[in-house]
Amino acid sequence: MAIIHGGQLARVAKQYQIPEQDWLDLSTGIAPFSYPIPEIPNKIWQDLPTISSSLIAAAKAYYQAEYCWPVAGSQQLIEKLPALWNEKVNSEHSRSQKHVYLPKVGYKEHQQAWFKGDYQLHFYQEELPTFIEKNSVVVVINPNNPLTDTFSITQLIELQKYCEEQHALLVVDEAFADIFEAEFSFVTHLNNTANVIVLRSFGKFFGLAGLRIGFVCSSKAWCETIQDNIGPWSINGPALYVAELALKDKSWQKQQTKRLQIQSHKMIELLKKQLPSSNIKANALFVTVFNENAALIYQLLCKNAVYVRLTDEQDALRFGIADPSQLQRLSANLAHIG
Ligand SMILES: Cc1ncc(COP(=O)(O)O)c(C=O)c1O
Repeated sequence: MAIIHGGQLARVAKQYQIPEQDWLDLSTGIAPFSYPIPEIPNKIWQDLPTISSSLIAAAKAYYQAEYCWPVAGSQQLIEKLPALWNEKVNSEHSRSQKHVYLPKVGYKEHQQAWFKGDYQLHFYQEELPTFIEKNSVVVVINPNNPLTDTFSITQLIELQKYCEEQHALLVVDEAFADIFEAEFSFVTHLNNTANVIVLRSFGKFFGLAGLRIGFVCSSKAWCETIQDNIGPWSINGPALYVAELALKDKSWQKQQTKRLQIQSHKMIELLKKQLPSSNIKANALFVTVFNENAALIYQLLCKNAVYVRLTDEQDALRFGIADPSQLQRLSANLAHIG
């Protein structure tokens, strides 16, 4: 099953027969302002990559984690988790059926990975699951992409206790959490014995999804398992180099949060005006517009070379945050289709 994502401009450009360079691409939740790529010393390109203690220290400080480890984007671990959890459960217990609890609407790669791992899929949405099988898995996407919904720390702590009772794995995907206060993250509530994995995407907030680096925050034992499993050179040297600088650069992070909030706010105002009778939900990395004519609006936008993400349910459009010049163009295009 091939999953549709934002960021597939080549496919859409071909479908609408408009050259790729003519499009306004707001189809992802990747920040439009990127951390500036510094000059990268030759040695970084020449040498095999090493995970330095200074990078780990920078990541621990940024995520406020006791233990964390880099991965080649959180997607790398999403794909590996079913096998890792199987191995752990099989070494400790016997079970006949494998169960995973996932948000019905949310980043579909989780569903795909557990499905491929022969797990029985169960779905929840507004409420976290209140019944789970022993040795199962619960995936929480916080904030949800594309719905923007969030769960509180209190709700997650309760779920984590229940997961512990059931010897279940809790996966908290915080791909878009950088835009919130540090207290939002479940990382600071991790304890060193629990089967809890928090996934942190680097590419979205820092606007560098192509770098393919992310971080996992978990217990020491889980970090070691992941380290063994992904091998020594999964993440390239330039990615490690740039990520370390970016994670330490507090003033850039502050500026980034501020400008994303400003642009998000402006987009909400624009979309409210141009797409009335919509229900708009937003955070500082994307704006999701629920509208009964979402599929039609999507087509009209595409005909005007504006690419946004039509949700799988076809009931909403997710707009990535536009920079000031993109916002001007979006405003003109929306006026045109309105
Ligand atoms: C909720 C969520 N989690 C994880 C990912 C994977 O991102 P990455 O592998 O770049 O960290 C995405 C990508 O869109 C996402 O939306």
